[in-house]
Amino acid sequence: MSLLDLASKRHSPRAFDGSALTWEDLANGFEAARLSSSSYNNQPWRFVVALRGEEGFDALLNTAVDANHTWMKDAGAIVGVMSSTVLEKTGETDHAALLGVGMAVGAMELAFTEAGLASMQAGGFDRAAFRALLDLPDHLLPVSLLAVGRLPEGHVPGAKTRKSLSDIAFRVGDDIR
Ligand SMILES: Cc1cc2nc3c(=O)[nH]c(=O)nc-3n(C[C@H](O)[C@H](O)[C@H](O)COP(=O)(O)O)c2cc1C
Repeated sequence: MSLLDLASKRHSPRAFDGSALTWEDLANGFEAARLSSSSYNNQPWRFVVALRGEEGFDALLNTAVDANHTWMKDAGAIVGVMSSTVLEKTGETDHAALLGVGMAVGAMELAFTEAGLASMQAGGFDRAAFRALLDLPDHLLPVSLLAVGRLPEGHVPGAKTRKSLSDIAFRVGDDIR
């Protein structure tokens, strides 16, 4: 499948079939994230993985806000996404860290799509509870919960609502909004 086909197919399903996933199911997604580029090659992404059936699954799930808990409970795995805010080479702030993490997660989601899985990010979760659960050091920022799983039978993806190209790509001198 071409990259554009994968990007069109990937969607946020808000529904999973409740089956469990294994590390092997997730392997290509993590490899795609690992190979992603980042400022100073700092590789700011950190992931905590809980497979369905593991104790950590409910612990991560319970940090989700109610509206996300409703569909996330049927995921096959939940990946907690974090960002390191420190440039390892200098000890200074990595101002591009979130962009790097986003690129890694984007690659991961396309690899999951290619593997026939569905995934969905959720920024709606209790960051303080997540931090406390994992006893995170200060330089690690909770970013999102990424639910991964298989789609329920008969699932129909919703239509993609997007801005047009002219709303997002400009020339110098344009009235950029
Ligand atoms: C970083 C991030 C956080 C998101 N957080 C939530 C969320 O908390 N709850 C939710 O229902 N959807 C969440 N979404 C899903 C978006 O609403 C969805 O990606 C967007 O509507 C586009 O739809 P699509 O992913 O199906 O193409 C999030 C997406 C991203 C990338």
